[in-house]
Amino acid sequence: MALLEILRYPDSRLRNRAKPVDTIDAETRQLVDDMFETMYKASGIGLAAIQVNSTKRLLVLDISEQRDDPLCLINPEILSKEGESKEEEGCLSVPGIYEPVKRATHILVKALDRDGNSIELELEGLPAVCVQHEIDHLDGKLFIDHLSRLKSTRIRKKLEKEARQADD
Ligand code: NI
Repeated sequence: MALLEILRYPDSRLRNRAKPVDTIDAETRQLVDDMFETMYKASGIGLAAIQVNSTKRLLVLDISEQRDDPLCLINPEILSKEGESKEEEGCLSVPGIYEPVKRATHILVKALDRDGNSIELELEGLPAVCVQHEIDHLDGKLFIDHLSRLKSTRIRKKLEKEARQADD
């Protein structure tokens, strides 16, 4: 297992779009395991492959308090959405920023698990929000893209400044 580097906004590689995984081979499973390790180390609840500079269409999450309920979704696809809520979100790639985002409250999602089994999950609340946030990453989208232009510009400037200061 290995810790991976998490790309930070405004890194342009966060705009890459993921490609479907054809075969779940040893390399893919290694990536999944490394992503779990990286997510747990960073105290995150979800991580998409795009965030660690891989274009494989997969994500990992664990929203449990005990950090003992890992879920891996490969080639996830939202089949249906219902309801609407606006909850505060954050992102390991956009550190220190928390803003409310409008999302569906219920989703039906299908995917493959780490062993390649087909799964279909009905999710609501936080897991539903988390999966929508991570699937956005796989499409090159960030949660701040859902905010007003004024707000997202302010966030970009703040993080660019922080990145420059970190380089000094
Ligand atoms: Ni994120």
